[in-house]
Amino acid sequence: MATALKINGKTHQVDLPDDVPLLWVLRDEVGLTGTKFGCGVAACGACTVHIDGESVRSCQVALSDVWGEVTTIEGLGTPDAMAMIQQAWVEHQVAQCGYCQSGQIMQAAALLAENPSPTDQDIDDAMQGNLCRCGTYPRIRAAIHDAASKLNEA
Ligand code: FES
Ligand code: FES
Repeated sequence: MATALKINGKTHQVDLPDDVPLLWVLRDEVGLTGTKFGCGVAACGACTVHIDGESVRSCQVALSDVWGEVTTIEGLGTPDAMAMIQQAWVEHQVAQCGYCQSGQIMQAAALLAENPSPTDQDIDDAMQGNLCRCGTYPRIRAAIHDAASKLNEA
């Protein structure tokens, strides 16, 4: 029986086994390839998406365990305020190879929704599960501070 999944504001009927990881559903079934496969064992953060605003590793969430609306990097710009995070990423030229960055941005968005003015330590704590082989951590931190300022001014 198909499972109804709300993703980025749109409902999709997904006819797959219950234990298929959400990451596979997003990429292979729905065609949202902005969310990346890195490790498959919750150790890198490349697959980070939101379920009802909470950041989750989509490689570790089975289809039958999805409890709410899924937001991926493709849907993060709505509402417009969330696009400010991506804008800060661009202004700080954060990405190098880019592979980890959708997961980084999704994790940062969840942090800023919970903590509008994070300290360096808050950022390090929240982001420590999102790995970047290119070492963009200083620019990620700067972009999060900038995004926090933009969001607080808006
Ligand atoms: S692919 Fe999910 S945490 Fe690495
Ligand atoms: S930008 Fe290359 S892995 Fe992060």
